[in-house]
Amino acid sequence: MCGIVGYASLTNTACAKPLEVCLQGLERLEYRGYDSAGVALVAPGMGKVAWRKKAGRLNNLVHSIESQPMPEATVGIGHTRWATNGEPNDVNAHPHISQDEKIAVIHNGIIENAAQLKFDLQAEGYTFVSNTDTEVVAKLAGKVADTIIAETGKPDLFEAIRRTARMLTGAFTILAVDVRQPGIVVGIRHDSPLVVGLGEHENFLGSDLAAFVAHTKQAMELGQDEAVCISGESIEVTDFDGNPVTDSHRFTINWDASSAQKGGWDSFMDKEIHEDPTAVADTLLGRFNPNGDLNLDEVHIEPEVFRQIDKIIIVACGTASYAGFVAKYAIEHWVRIPVEVELAHEFRYRDPILTPRTLVVAISQSGETMDTLMALRHAREQGSRVLAICNTQGSSIPRESDAVLYTHAGPEIAVASTKAFVSQVVAAYLLGLYLAQVKGTMFRDEIHQVVESLKDMPRKIQWVLDTQTQTIARAAKSLITAKSFLFLGRHVGYPVALEGALKLKEIAYTFTEGFAAGELKHGPIALVEEGEPIVVIVPSSRGRDLLHNKVISSIEEVKARGAFVIAVAEEGDPDVDRYADVVFWRPTCPTLMSPLVDVVPLQLFALEMAKDKGLDVDKPRNLAKSVTVE
Ligand code: F6R
Repeated sequence: MCGIVGYASLTNTACAKPLEVCLQGLERLEYRGYDSAGVALVAPGMGKVAWRKKAGRLNNLVHSIESQPMPEATVGIGHTRWATNGEPNDVNAHPHISQDEKIAVIHNGIIENAAQLKFDLQAEGYTFVSNTDTEVVAKLAGKVADTIIAETGKPDLFEAIRRTARMLTGAFTILAVDVRQPGIVVGIRHDSPLVVGLGEHENFLGSDLAAFVAHTKQAMELGQDEAVCISGESIEVTDFDGNPVTDSHRFTINWDASSAQKGGWDSFMDKEIHEDPTAVADTLLGRFNPNGDLNLDEVHIEPEVFRQIDKIIIVACGTASYAGFVAKYAIEHWVRIPVEVELAHEFRYRDPILTPRTLVVAISQSGETMDTLMALRHAREQGSRVLAICNTQGSSIPRESDAVLYTHAGPEIAVASTKAFVSQVVAAYLLGLYLAQVKGTMFRDEIHQVVESLKDMPRKIQWVLDTQTQTIARAAKSLITAKSFLFLGRHVGYPVALEGALKLKEIAYTFTEGFAAGELKHGPIALVEEGEPIVVIVPSSRGRDLLHNKVISSIEEVKARGAFVIAVAEEGDPDVDRYADVVFWRPTCPTLMSPLVDVVPLQLFALEMAKDKGLDVDKPRNLAKSVTVE
């Protein structure tokens, strides 16, 4: 949730200044949390850590530093907060400082035993100014550091933070600096993300790659319960007991810093919706043999093992779960095995029926969603194989899974997920088609035909973006005062309706509810009154007539009760033209491909509505991009 950055450089080299690196990193990480922000700096000769923190957006911190500059430094840490513990204000913002002000600490996560630790520290005379668990860590780290100095005669921040880690329960990434060791930054991680960036005479820490990708594309993963100490010239990794770790995975970041910038768009969400076509195309890229067959060698699961799979359980949260829900319809149709879709936080506390032949698929854009991470651990503990569908290199979910199929959507910065959704659907479809290929449940030609349809989807999504935006913007403007919206869909249109409802709810703060259209008469129709806006996802009028006619009947039913119907429908559908008040058209495509186009107008509709209301579309209230706490 919170964004964390750390930087160490050699003095007298031409490396970037720690304050600049930290502020720039925080700017790129602000999507992770934006309640408050702060930095701490250390340089040789400082008696106390230099620090500054401010409630509100990062700009408040920047203005404070501009009006009262901070000293030059060799190392620095920075934090942007999404409050879990203590309200968002100046005092509760990070960094937090040890009693003697020699150590500064920033933290992402929750310390579950903070109350007991605080009680013990207070009994020893330590005083507290904030309501946060992080201040407890800072005071505790200060105490441990003093003990080490008393034992050995010299400071050892690395050991102090490891010892501190061993006393904490909960989930945490912690970075610390100490004025007595002005060349190093120490980090630890337990159930919370932290990656290392490797530069020349400079090294970086970040809660994700965006923190430092502008400076280096060389990165290193840290494992669960590992500690790292960076200086300008070295990186040392150990476990919490101090045993060296030598097999940390290094990789090259496959996107540029420019991908994480707005690039002329009003908002990241705007930009990212317009990247839907590329996200689909890039996720398809490189996954086929020259003869057109699917090739998923990259996941390192033997075809024989895939052949044995007799059930799939998809675990995910929010938008990612709706992508999984769409894939359920396709995979069951293509592979003829049951596919269950479960919210990760529910799955985790159930006693699910898993066998070694069950494939659990964890879908996550960030790769850090704690609920999904816990669900995959739950599945693996019971002997199931887990395949991650993930968009973020170096993140926890792929690292802890047996296999990973990456989506190639590029960094998604806006809190509301858009291009990740379409890329997740495509990746899950690739998995389904591959299973059909190895299990022989579809003819080769049939698979090739579906693949051709998939390859055609970027063009069709682009058509929606090019031709429907104005209609969508007008509709959003005219409905700005609506108090609530209902979303209806059937078959693959049902999860799309759920996703459309979520988008509008989270960024335009409008009450929305998504339903299966068939459910209407079982309750929701009672909500329909004069003027109630209802968004309906209409299946293709060609081929699957039954499904189409059923949805048209639902439209007639709500129209008869005065609803204002906004339809998402196939170009030229005469029935829709007759009944709907507004139509967002999409090009013709096979039913199973339609979610990839139908979701686009709903993303745009939510965006336009939020813009018209003057809201911050990229950073909706109370939300953060990756939910790294339960
Ligand atoms: C909605 C949204 C969330 C995420 C969910 C899972 O727009 O962004 O519902 O989809 O928190 O996040 P990931 O995919 O990072 O696991």
